[in-house]
Amino acid sequence: MRSRNAEETKKIGADFARKLSSPVLIGLSGDLGAGKTTFVQGMARGLGIDPRHYVNSPTFTMVNEYEGEKGKLIHVDLYRIEKPVEGETLALEEYLASGGLVVVEWIEKMPSLGLLADFQIRLTTVSEKEREIEITRQMP
Ligand SMILES: Nc1ncnc2c1ncn2[C@@H]1O[C@H](COP(=O)(O)OP(=O)(O)OP(=O)(O)O)[C@@H](O)[C@H]1O
Ligand SMILES: [Mg+2]
Repeated sequence: MRSRNAEETKKIGADFARKLSSPVLIGLSGDLGAGKTTFVQGMARGLGIDPRHYVNSPTFTMVNEYEGEKGKLIHVDLYRIEKPVEGETLALEEYLASGGLVVVEWIEKMPSLGLLADFQIRLTTVSEKEREIEITRQMP
């Protein structure tokens, strides 16, 4: 679907998140500035996460955790990962096992994790403010 500005991307993220049930793993891909973090901010809103807990790129931590109405939202950014090691995949599996809603930016950097994703969300920059957002359900 088409988003015409950042607020629309947040709304699409919020509507998507409201329909989810945990545990769930969601992969986000798209170029720098495509709107992946913006989409996760919308998801946080949809999950009733206190807006004071501002969702930004987990630059230094790689993983940020938020307490939402449906349990935890785990926001992961693999942008800076160099060589993925098996252990990191397993740590994320633990989050899932605990009933979390795990959303991973740059999931294409860890193909083994991509295979486990329940949903793949791809954002494509069309123009300065327009984005094409594709949501695909993946069957195991
Ligand atoms: N339709 C749109 N949807 C999302 N963001 C938009 C849109 N139009 C403009 N923007 C702007 O584009 C930028 C998207 O930044 P964001 O951090 O969400 O991207 P990202 O994909 O997470 O980037 P990175 O790969 O660096 O993590 C924001 O500054 C946002 O305001
Ligand atoms: Mg980002």
